[in-house]
Amino acid sequence: MSSNRVAIRATGEAFEVGGREFILDAAIRQQVSIPYSCRNGTCRSCISTVIEGDVQQHDVDDCLISPAELAANQRLVCLATAKGEVVIEPLRKLPRR
Ligand code: FES
Repeated sequence: MSSNRVAIRATGEAFEVGGREFILDAAIRQQVSIPYSCRNGTCRSCISTVIEGDVQQHDVDDCLISPAELAANQRLVCLATAKGEVVIEPLRKLPRR
């Protein structure tokens, strides 16, 4: 199965995402920190800007992301798959460890 590489701009962390795997699921599996809560497109905790590359947003009708946010390259990565190499930046920041 093909996989793609996703990087987080602010931290420089990178991880592999399976072709049909949601970006957040891959990050959690590889212990890369992205803010999240619901994992189903309703809490908006995981909203991220796609800086480079392209991602596919799934279940757009059921999840809470606006056309304006989509136009600004923002995606809910709990319901998004990577289309090639991608760099993202979560809008919410995790608390410092
Ligand atoms: S984790 Fe809740 S919208 Fe993505």
